[in-house]
Amino acid sequence: MHAEKLVEVVLPGVVEPEGLEVRRGEVPVAAPGRVVIRMEATGVSFAEQQMRRGRYYDQPPFPFVPGYDLVGTVVAAGDGVPSALVGTRVAALLKVGGWASHVAVDAADVVPVPAGLDPAEAETVVINGITAWQMLHRKARVRAGGTVLVHGANGGVGSVLVQLAAAAGAKVIGTASARHHDALRAKGVVPVDYRTEDVPARVRALAPGGVDAVFDHVGGPGIVDSWRLLAPGGTLVSYGTASTRDDEGSQQLPVLKLLGRVWLWNALPNRRHAYFYNVWAGRSLGRDRFRARLRADLTSVFRALEQGEITAQVAARLPLDRIADAVRLAESGTVAGKVVLNP
Ligand SMILES: NC(=O)c1ccc[n+]([C@@H]2O[C@H](COP(=O)([O-])OP(=O)(O)OC[C@H]3O[C@@H](n4cnc5c(N)ncnc54)[C@H](OP(=O)(O)O)[C@@H]3O)[C@@H](O)[C@H]2O)c1
Repeated sequence: MHAEKLVEVVLPGVVEPEGLEVRRGEVPVAAPGRVVIRMEATGVSFAEQQMRRGRYYDQPPFPFVPGYDLVGTVVAAGDGVPSALVGTRVAALLKVGGWASHVAVDAADVVPVPAGLDPAEAETVVINGITAWQMLHRKARVRAGGTVLVHGANGGVGSVLVQLAAAAGAKVIGTASARHHDALRAKGVVPVDYRTEDVPARVRALAPGGVDAVFDHVGGPGIVDSWRLLAPGGTLVSYGTASTRDDEGSQQLPVLKLLGRVWLWNALPNRRHAYFYNVWAGRSLGRDRFRARLRADLTSVFRALEQGEITAQVAARLPLDRIADAVRLAESGTVAGKVVLNP
């Protein structure tokens, strides 16, 4: 029998998708407290679109293996890790390193994936599901009967968020280009075309008293519209700067500008709230509490998927060695949901 080999995708610098390199090497060994996961599914997130331009807020130094999250089976456990974990299907949130056939992580960072879930489907709700769940339930605290506006409703995060919001009993307005509107209507979402329509005017017509929450990953000057659309008591959750992906200059400035606005809005005498959500900010709670919260929230999302409250949106499944096609597809502005990578 042949020993397994490591296959990984390396981002060597600022390159076109064809510049990503597929490399082969040795499978990592499990150090004490760590496990090795044989990847079954990873995916292309917006973060990688920014990273390959050198424009991620927390840009890792080149070269590195991208891949924000993964689902796979534990194949080796280091000292101090219960051996029962070997053979278990798990998910892990990484930020980088997921685009590999085998990945070593701390055993405390893995979250069990329910037996009935397809790995690719589970993959679509790791970073996207945690982000959507925490923004909805920990930041905006959306209640049944409320109205929410979700920008990018067809995207990886957006497609989970609109479903979780609808499952919580909210009326959901979602912005997306027209090709996605039928699918959004089928999910109970009222779609608005951000490419051709006056979004604030449409939203005001749909919710004359304002909306209870806005989830905005677009950033830039348009964030002011998101704030103004809030009803009294409403919450703006800003969580990205998609509109500045192709800008020149500092990759941190767009986020710092948003943080400044959020600070200012919260300082105003008003009954509205603004947050800048960052999935890693919870680390200030301490490692154990951060991990416990991620585990609880991802487990809740997996349960929603198992129970059919939400449906996974796998935009396409491509093998790791077709990474250039996968990245081009994810960046094409045509996909609904997440582009998933298989070994
Ligand atoms: N803060 C955090 O912790 C955190 C965690 C996860 C994700 N995020 C952020 O969440 C966002 C979505 O990530 P994702 O992985 O779900 O991305 P994705 O699957 O690529 O989806 C992006 C969505 O944004 C839309 N979009 C892209 N550029 C836009 C623009 N300039 N104006 C308006 N809409 C635009 C796309 O619409 P089309 O398909 O029509 O182009 C698509 O619906 C990203 O900004 C990412 O940085 C933040």
